[in-house]
Amino acid sequence: MGPSITTTIKLPNATTPGATIPAIGLGTWQSPAEQVTDAVAYALSEAGYLHIDCALAYENEKAVKEGLKKSGVKREDIFITSKVWSTYLERVEECVDKILENLGIDYIDLLLIHWPIALNPNGNHPLFPTTPDGKFDIDHNHDLSKTWKAFEDVQKKGKTKHIGVSNFSEYTLLKILPTATIKPAVNQIELHPYLPQWKLLKYLESEGIVPQAYSPLGSTNSPILKDDVIVELAQKYGAEPAQIVIGWFGRSQSHFVPSFTKSMAKNIIVLPKSVTPSRILTNSKPANLSAEDIAKIDALSDNPEKAKRFIKPPWGVKVGFEDWDLA
Ligand code: A2P
Repeated sequence: MGPSITTTIKLPNATTPGATIPAIGLGTWQSPAEQVTDAVAYALSEAGYLHIDCALAYENEKAVKEGLKKSGVKREDIFITSKVWSTYLERVEECVDKILENLGIDYIDLLLIHWPIALNPNGNHPLFPTTPDGKFDIDHNHDLSKTWKAFEDVQKKGKTKHIGVSNFSEYTLLKILPTATIKPAVNQIELHPYLPQWKLLKYLESEGIVPQAYSPLGSTNSPILKDDVIVELAQKYGAEPAQIVIGWFGRSQSHFVPSFTKSMAKNIIVLPKSVTPSRILTNSKPANLSAEDIAKIDALSDNPEKAKRFIKPPWGVKVGFEDWDLA
């Protein structure tokens, strides 16, 4: 079966046994504050979403709060993720308290380190400090394992149910895993048919870390939704291109083609962003693709002209992704 809006995925590293997360969540990055309130309210109350993905650095969490309220859906029925921004890696609890206040909630379901990059907390901007030459003002001496320890502490205090990371490669995960007493429940990364990150998915599976896909459609003005293979499959299934792409993420064991070793990508949490009600509804009903059609989408990134990372902030330091290593 492909994913549906009611599908949940187990979190093997969760400290509460049997904990799950809804497989589809509404992304809110780049959602303007004046639109995200209605988008969140519509997703929760009309389209059946029970999972909203937020971050302090999206600078729209107060508007998300209004959407949560407007939906009328009970807090305990909603899975809320937020992320600690890079200028707060040495002030984790302060950031968490700000997030709780912004969202009007008294616990987060899942708290992530937004990027494995520390920015100067005392720089020329509270979120995006730069040096005089216009580059990001990076704190090169920061120890990520200390941030992870602070994450473990806020979880123990009950301010978040689960903890995880975002934009971590195997290289950066190895900066926290050796000393972690609680393993990350998830790693939220850019994932889509043009960037399937097979090797990293395999590593995450071996560590029990569940992948979450951001920019699953390929972000703003995505070429993926216009790709010939995706458009052809949309016609075949009588679906929208976005439903084909979202369906590709939820392949289950039954979809495995034994000789096709790349078919690792299963049980991936997918976070399509939209502020358009009709699209929010469309995205809640992914296509249930055949193994053969999944393999067709798997093959897209074999074409070097298509393989592409869309979200690549110019950090200027090693992040350790196979296709993106500036060191
Ligand atoms: P909008 O928010 O204006 O509806 P991603 O999730 O990969 O970041 O992609 C988000 C982008 O894709 C946004 O520009 C969003 O537009 C657009 N989008 C979301 N859902 C659909 C859909 N079903 N069909 C076409 N475009 C979509």
